[in-house]
Amino acid sequence: MTESIRIVGGNPLQGVIQIRGAKNAALPLMTAALLTDETLTLTNVPHLTDIQTMAELLEQHGVHINHTAGSYAYELKAQTIINTTASYDLVCKMRASILVLGPLVARCGQARVSLPGGCAIGTRPVDIHLSGLKQLGAQIELSEGYINASAPKGLTGAKITMPLVSVTATENLMMAGTLAKGETHLINAAREPEVVDLANCLIAMGAKITGAGTDTIIIEGVSRLHKATYAVLPDRIETGTYAMAAVITGGDLELTHTSLALIPSIASTLQQAGIIIQETPNGMRVKSSGSSILGVDVMTEPYPGFATDLQAQIMAVMTICRGASMITETIFENRFMHVQELCRMGANITVHHSSALVRGVPYLSGAQVMATDLRASVCLVLAGLAAKGETTISRIYHLDRGYENLEEKFRNCGANIERIAA
Ligand code: UD1
Repeated sequence: MTESIRIVGGNPLQGVIQIRGAKNAALPLMTAALLTDETLTLTNVPHLTDIQTMAELLEQHGVHINHTAGSYAYELKAQTIINTTASYDLVCKMRASILVLGPLVARCGQARVSLPGGCAIGTRPVDIHLSGLKQLGAQIELSEGYINASAPKGLTGAKITMPLVSVTATENLMMAGTLAKGETHLINAAREPEVVDLANCLIAMGAKITGAGTDTIIIEGVSRLHKATYAVLPDRIETGTYAMAAVITGGDLELTHTSLALIPSIASTLQQAGIIIQETPNGMRVKSSGSSILGVDVMTEPYPGFATDLQAQIMAVMTICRGASMITETIFENRFMHVQELCRMGANITVHHSSALVRGVPYLSGAQVMATDLRASVCLVLAGLAAKGETTISRIYHLDRGYENLEEKFRNCGANIERIAA
């Protein structure tokens, strides 16, 4: 059944929101279970459709998953890998499926993974993953839409300089390196907290890794990994999204089970916009200063820069700023699809190549809009929460990929929001 979200905007949000574990940390952590025949227990795994998709994919490879409905814990045991193919029907649902490639080749000496193909926010190739695996000694062939990787004698450590900072390529190659012979150096590695989380979990499983969180990660291969229990770090994108919900509605929200340290650029951008952000023992409090939001320029960058996954949300906030804001997207080439929808709600935005000039308007007006991807969907929810009148957002299935109980969390803080059959 297709569903829509209906919002009557204008209520300042007030209350407490608990932040869950990070989707983009949980997904690679789940694939790390492929590296050992012992049980990997993960806690703080969020309830999201992307997590279900990953569980389904891992089960196809033979991973036994123990998870009680409603629980945030997953026990994953890959005693025997029964199938090294990741088929198109699951990979096309979620690009992060490519994260099984490194672990499967490392553990089994072979993998056949569907090419993820294009996606709404850009072409997103996987050349860095493939070239890195080749440098570790794998043979890679592309045929009939699949990546065929093989390394019958195992992988061998290498010095890999990645041409671009890629989060999942760094994760794939780090996992592959854990079971390779000798030392692997990943140069120009991604520094995202999710990469550090994966490294810490792999270390708990017996891997030898140093430098995670810097641009050079060194992995000394070991012959096997073992069981571990690991808690997924808080979701910094969920944190930033709810912080912006407080800002755009002129509200006051406490975000718990998270940390300001995870969102350095986001926090400083919001502070420049005149927002009050206070650290609390278990998270942060974000509140409007009572005067209008100041226009601030934003450029997306790899961590610790401003996250591309929060670009759409900050744009929603800037539509009602005092002055103007230039928002430049440097990570993905086609990540402005929310612009047209925001303009349908009265925003004044002009796009020129990879920059959007957002001229603040006094208010947004409710409208019927359509979601195009995960973060664009939530940007329209934020706009709807602030807009005068009623907003209906269709194609909201994207939201369930990355936000757990979104409407309920907003409703508990005073929003008038509901999910309806479209
Ligand atoms: C991850 C996140 C995603 C986030 C993105 C950037 C996960 C599961 N997803 O995606 O939410 O938006 O980081 O922070 O963690 N590139 C290549 N060749 C490659 C790989 C990437 O050219 O082989 C390019 C991409 O097209 C993009 C840039 O590198 O322009 C960064 O992408 P990357 O960091 O790889 O994004 P993902 O890891 O797919």
